[in-house]
Amino acid sequence: MKFFSKRILNSIMFLSTVSFSAICLADGEDIADPIAYGEQAHKTHCYKCHSDDIYTRENRIVKSIDALSKQVDRCKDNIGIPWFDEDADAVVQFLNKKYYRF
Ligand code: HEC
Repeated sequence: MKFFSKRILNSIMFLSTVSFSAICLADGEDIADPIAYGEQAHKTHCYKCHSDDIYTRENRIVKSIDALSKQVDRCKDNIGIPWFDEDADAVVQFLNKKYYRF
């Protein structure tokens, strides 16, 4: 009897470990369409301080894809949204495709 309950306990522990890792994997999953995803994330979080005009203004500060990525990071950190690198990357891709074209 003792042996039997120990085995059950072990299977429960094993199963919860497996499902826990499945949840973690789902979080880090590749984004199927980064441009559409980035557009949506940008719409949700990025109109609080500036509109799209800032990306096309005459003296815009961003002059390379690297600078764009850094600026998105800076702006995102200002508002403290918990984005994964993939989220920020998707927004960079969206902004680059629509406005910057590096
Ligand atoms: C807390 C206010 C704030 C929020 C929210 C914000 N930004 Fe900004 N952003 C700024 C300011 C201020 C500037 C101008 C910086 C300057 O001129 O030096 C700027 C500039 C930029 C630029 C550079 C524009 C150029 O001149 O080329 C990009 C790109 C940008 N933001 C992206 C984003 C993205 C993406 C988000 C959403 C994650 C976002 N911003 C949210 C304040 C904000």
